Amino acid sequence: MEVIICKTYEDMSVRAAREVANALNTKPNAVLGLATGSTPVGLYEELVRRHREEGLDFSQVTTFNLDEYVGLRDDHPQSYHYFMKEHLLKDINVPPQNVHIPSGTTRNHIAFCAWYEERIRECGGIDLQVLGIGGDGHIAFNEPGSSLGSRTRIKTLAEQTIKDNARFFSEDEEVPIYAITMGVGTILEARKLMLLASGENKAEAVAQAIEGPVTSMITASALQLHHDSVILLDEPAAGKLKMRDYYQWIQDNKPGAPKAEV
Ligand code: PGA
Repeated sequence: MEVIICKTYEDMSVRAAREVANALNTKPNAVLGLATGSTPVGLYEELVRRHREEGLDFSQVTTFNLDEYVGLRDDHPQSYHYFMKEHLLKDINVPPQNVHIPSGTTRNHIAFCAWYEERIRECGGIDLQVLGIGGDGHIAFNEPGSSLGSRTRIKTLAEQTIKDNARFFSEDEEVPIYAITMGVGTILEARKLMLLASGENKAEAVAQAIEGPVTSMITASALQLHHDSVILLDEPAAGKLKMRDYYQWIQDNKPGAPKAEV
């Protein structure tokens, strides 16, 4: 597990975009796993910039999103379909038929989730999975207690998550209480994981995920089980790490890293 502490949110976003660009340079038809939330917005802005200004090409890329609220239509401003369109998909050249986001309106959740898993397999598996982390340590909507072997399924959201989301919905709307989410087991099958976290309010969850035990109570701790995961943090999100200097030392002394000037 590689822990990289960036000075600012912007630095973290640029660094994350570099990882995605590297993946596409190596494999133009890469399968990307994408996340929603406020954290990856800067990453997506940087990808759009690279697409426009540097010709970063998504024409052969396939995408799979982590999750979607149950009960929201694709055009609902709080749906993750809408989020992805607004923040990334409308501004890059991924063919629409290559975009996969769990359905918020399917009536047959079990069949849909089985299809989603099958589709990931058919496309050759996810090469690089982008992840955020919740204040409760969740990845995707794998709330505390989610099995570390879980697969794509319908999940009841934690009370705190529902409360946190309520501010985005008007009074006459029902705040979703279910989501379809990739499971922790699904996520762990991606070839590479890249988790982003920004801000002081994530510091505790980040510290538990990286330095605490592997536990279904903090599903992000499952990254400790993955052979190729990178965690990109800004300074405030790294604020509660005990081994912070160690992570920096490792970064400065990676094999092949340029020697510091004397
Ligand atoms: P955020 O959400 O990026 O909006 O903080 C992250 C998450 O809950 O996974």
